[in-house]
Amino acid sequence: MDKFVITGGKPLAGRITISGAKNATLAIMPATLLAGGVYHLTNTPNLRDVWTLSRLLGSMGVHAELNDTDLFVDTSNITSYEAPYEHVKKMRASFHVLGPLLARYGEAKVSLPGGCAWGPRPVDLHLKGLEKLGAQIDLEAGYVIARAPEGGLRGARIHFDISSVGATENVMMAAVLAKGSTTLSNAAVEPEVTALARMLVNMGAKIEGIGTTTLEIEGVPELKTVNEETIPDRIEAGTFLIGAAMTRGKITLDKTNPYHLAAVIAKLEESGCEVDVNGDSITLTMETAPKPTDITTSPYPGFPTDLQAQWMAYMLMADGTSSITDTIYTDRFKHVPELLRLGADVEMAENTAIIKGGKKLSGATVMSTDLRASASLILAALVAEGRSEILRVYHLDRGYEAIEKRLGALGAQIRRERTEEF
Ligand code: UD1
Repeated sequence: MDKFVITGGKPLAGRITISGAKNATLAIMPATLLAGGVYHLTNTPNLRDVWTLSRLLGSMGVHAELNDTDLFVDTSNITSYEAPYEHVKKMRASFHVLGPLLARYGEAKVSLPGGCAWGPRPVDLHLKGLEKLGAQIDLEAGYVIARAPEGGLRGARIHFDISSVGATENVMMAAVLAKGSTTLSNAAVEPEVTALARMLVNMGAKIEGIGTTTLEIEGVPELKTVNEETIPDRIEAGTFLIGAAMTRGKITLDKTNPYHLAAVIAKLEESGCEVDVNGDSITLTMETAPKPTDITTSPYPGFPTDLQAQWMAYMLMADGTSSITDTIYTDRFKHVPELLRLGADVEMAENTAIIKGGKKLSGATVMSTDLRASASLILAALVAEGRSEILRVYHLDRGYEAIEKRLGALGAQIRRERTEEF
């Protein structure tokens, strides 16, 4: 297993190109099951989660090959409709194959994902939506066994009780091949959902209302393969912006979509950063300690839950008290005890963290618990005095491509080392 060794105190300065979005890739790869043939997906990030999904698709007979940022996927010979536990337990997004398999092959057996490091993450909305399309869903030995009715899935009116990225994606992928019309209301509008909807349209699907909370889908009998470019990763971009802000640096990010980051840029400005947007580039300059700036996470276009932990690290630098409320994942605060080990002063009251900024942070050994919590520990270590070790960095490798090289190129003192620790 690897760890990162970081010596704090250097500002992030320079220019980097943002990678393709992890969460968009994890939606568009399963969509390739909807039409047999070869796909060329460009701007694909080289991440552990992408390899995991490639292996899962490989176990179904799909050939997936990543050359630099070009992912070639061949779905001509599907031999199995099963997503085994060994893959789904590594990455919940594996559950996204359920909708496409059911729609195209009429059957699927997909392991239930279970909980994750920050609490329960149910899939009831995915299953309810698919049932509305006529699927019979049985739960057996930790697996969802889904079967389409005689003649295939049928269009339906589906309202999601909660805005869910994964449920919207899964049910939308099933509905595009269902007979008749489907309406999805209270659909998620995250850019990754919109990117998937656009890909489906390019494949021949009929979807109206893309980018809104109501999607009108007219089923088609078959789809065709496409070449698709993945949208930029707004969470990677947000993490680097926050990193530059907290180290009082100056960075320019290229190949971003600033519209996707509007809520984050607004909060960075509120905290005192200067942010310039020029086409698809964003430049951030910060010369002072941030003003205490509260955030509350909410579905897009609100402040993303995936940047909440990093924002907490940032607010440790503020001269005063701020609060962070996570309304999406109320238990997503596993980074707090680790940040306390670096000297942070954070108190929890249900799903709100109260951060008393301005305390001196000192290097320590801390442990990654999940992807974004790990990013917040790295950011805190970049400003802590002395040396920190971040253990279990495989979480980071799931969602940040070569983060130590990218941060190193921006001036951070960070290196990866092997460790015996488990
Ligand atoms: C996706 C992202 C994840 C991000 C999250 C919220 C991917 C691969 N992951 O996760 O990085 O943090 O969106 O922006 O795209 N819920 C239910 N029942 C369900 C499904 C969800 O109650 O069947 C709840 C969840 O517990 C959560 C909320 O709905 O409280 C939103 O979750 P959801 O949008 O589904 O997250 P994911 O798609 O799993």
